[in-house]
Amino acid sequence: MVRNAWSLGTVILIMQLMWIPGVVVNGKLCKDPNHVTINDFLFKGFNIRGDTYNTDGANATLIDINRFPGVNTQGVSLARVDFAPFGLNTPHWHPRGSEIFAVVEGSLYAGFVTSDNKLYDTILKKGDMIVFPQGLIHFQANIKRTDALAVASFGSQNPGRVNVANGVFGTKPRILDGVLTKAYQVDRKVVEQLRAQFLNENMSINTAELISTY
Ligand SMILES: *[C@@H]1O[C@H](CO)[C@@H](O)[C@H](O)[C@H]1NC(C)=O
Ligand SMILES: *[C@@H]1O[C@H](CO)[C@@H](O)[C@H](O)[C@H]1NC(C)=O
Repeated sequence: MVRNAWSLGTVILIMQLMWIPGVVVNGKLCKDPNHVTINDFLFKGFNIRGDTYNTDGANATLIDINRFPGVNTQGVSLARVDFAPFGLNTPHWHPRGSEIFAVVEGSLYAGFVTSDNKLYDTILKKGDMIVFPQGLIHFQANIKRTDALAVASFGSQNPGRVNVANGVFGTKPRILDGVLTKAYQVDRKVVEQLRAQFLNENMSINTAELISTY
């Protein structure tokens, strides 16, 4: 009777294929296997040192799905962390991955904090490795007057990184004053001072004399 009548399911499928507003895929599409070469599985330049001339005196270079499409669907990624003397890889966490962190050169003070605020900390020497459980705040600080280097691997192609300080005081737009004064039990001046440090406007280079108690 009706020619070319499509089932409702077919029509919905076609609409979905043509127009899917607001849908985001959390991951990357795969390349056509017929066009894959060995180069899709290679990354070059892991030996290149990150620039540590910044406020923290450290630079974590994460080679994840965004820089190395070859790890797509593989659930792994790798980082190198370069430290200037007394440099700090500032407290942060990875929402989507556990981490193994190995010291290649130097000595670092490192720790992580559990969900009930217990600190596990230690001094790591060359050749030592530590696990940072997924989603927990952790940090590493170079305790020597020489450069240090670490390699970190993640159980995710896209572990993500959230810096504790920036995630609170460096947001755009700013979190309402009242939220931060109450949460941190300080007045607005302190909140403003902290914001000024983490809104990237007036950052100064200061890598000196951190944690010299160790
Ligand atoms: C880390 O090093 C890279 C490569 O030198 C540089 O582009 C980047 O700006 C550095 N990051 C920081 C926070 O200094
Ligand atoms: C950065 O410094 C300028 C000049 O001293 C000042 O006017 C501005 O308020 C500062 N910005 C922040 C976020 O503190």
